[in-house]
Amino acid sequence: MARDTSHINKTNDNDADNRVVIFDTTLRDGEQSPGASMTLSEKLQIAEILDGMGVDVIEAGFPIASNGDFEAVSEIAKITENAVVCGLARSGPMDIDRAGEALAEAKRFRIHTFISTSPVHMKFKLQMEPEEVLEAVTSSVTRARGFTEDVEWSAEDATRTENDFLCRCVEAAIKAGATTINIPDTVGYTVPEEYYALISMLRERVPDADEVVFSTHCHNDLGMAVANSLAGVRAGARQVECTINGMGERAGNAALEEIVMALDTRSDALPFTTGIDTTRLMPASKLVSAVTAFPVQYNKAIVGANAFAHESGIHQDGMLKHNQTYEIMTPESVGLKESSLVMGKHSGRHAFREKLKDLGYELGDNAFQDAFQRFKDLADKKKHVFDEDIEALVDDEIASGSDRIKLVALTVIAGTEGPQKATVTMEVDGAAHCKEASGDGPVDATFNAIRAIVPHDARLPLYQVSAVTEGTDAQAEVMVRLEENGKMVTGKSADTDTLVASARAYIGALNKLLVKREKTAPGSMLAS
Ligand code: KIV
Ligand code: ZN
Repeated sequence: MARDTSHINKTNDNDADNRVVIFDTTLRDGEQSPGASMTLSEKLQIAEILDGMGVDVIEAGFPIASNGDFEAVSEIAKITENAVVCGLARSGPMDIDRAGEALAEAKRFRIHTFISTSPVHMKFKLQMEPEEVLEAVTSSVTRARGFTEDVEWSAEDATRTENDFLCRCVEAAIKAGATTINIPDTVGYTVPEEYYALISMLRERVPDADEVVFSTHCHNDLGMAVANSLAGVRAGARQVECTINGMGERAGNAALEEIVMALDTRSDALPFTTGIDTTRLMPASKLVSAVTAFPVQYNKAIVGANAFAHESGIHQDGMLKHNQTYEIMTPESVGLKESSLVMGKHSGRHAFREKLKDLGYELGDNAFQDAFQRFKDLADKKKHVFDEDIEALVDDEIASGSDRIKLVALTVIAGTEGPQKATVTMEVDGAAHCKEASGDGPVDATFNAIRAIVPHDARLPLYQVSAVTEGTDAQAEVMVRLEENGKMVTGKSADTDTLVASARAYIGALNKLLVKREKTAPGSMLAS
């Protein structure tokens, strides 16, 4: 089952010497962010945007982890046009076979197999002797090569591994046929100088190191993931593993948008290229934030709401005279458009579709009709409808496309005289249900009424409200996170009425919980 991977492994080709392979792991390591789990259709949307923006390798999931992960990897494998689709596997044969099976229909695929190599991981996590780990390196890579020529091997916790042992493992992986060698800073412990030295040491000492692509995979526990990854590139690594918005375990991974824009903006100091269309960075960031309900930090580099805002008088004055006074890259280069006033309530379908295209959305017919209706409703209520408003309602539409539970109506009695009460009407699998409940405030009453229709014991670890734009008629954007038996799901919605947005966000999270429950115990939630 040989695959052509020549476009990836090109360290010896002069023209390609400085080309850095962008390996996106938003759908695998990113999904490991607590609370960031995504549905299949959300994963497909993200994969599509990654493929379209020029990501070289999409790590689509960890097929043996669950049936959901397997399905996601195999569906992404089917739809991906350009990128190599990758599946993660531990060193055991079942993991590798499951990855091979999930990826079988991809145009091009990679199996990524890993095992821990640091003393602390080998002793306490694996309870294996170093010699056993070495054998596992050889057997896992050999087995993966039975499925594809494109095999990546990772030394988990490489930055806390003894140099001599790491060299032996890397050598074994190369001998067994690995084509990419990944050196993860699993716990975000290293510093740039040290990581530079580590990659350089491996490239110097390991036989045939020049035959493979070295890769970085840096976690951000000390806030140095991007700096460490770039140090790795300067030392000769030609693949960077990263995620949109820096999603990932604990403090996350190196942020794709920061890596790409650092290379793009500072090509004088960092003479390396990527295949990424940088104007797609902002839409990708927004999509990932919308589907995971992980807000992007306001002052986050590249994609934060303030990344191109100039507040102080001195800065504004400078910008008016020449934008290079305070701007090292243009907002347009990362896909940020001037926030513009959208057409009013008299705007037609055609103009609305053009606006969506402009904002980077392409909706199917049904989703478009629903989004257009919601735009009309919003334009009726809100004097000025901005791009951000349109984005919020379309994100809502995308998130709720195939939901089994839908909000039909909500009436709330709130104010200084309690008890606050809510009457909720919902459609559950097409049948209407109505309940009234009281609560400690209108939000609590609303959520209690929803719980009366769809009983569940999920905890509510996050309820967050923010304004989409300025003004008292701004839409409220609500994010909700629910947790049940260790499973986390999120929902997000926007509306000019905070309580309607709250109810929709809660129901959105409930729908995702339902999907998760259906996979383990079919029919369980709605039957109770
Ligand atoms: O952080 C890590 O070590 C990983 C590996 C599985 C590559 O995510
Ligand atoms: Zn990781």
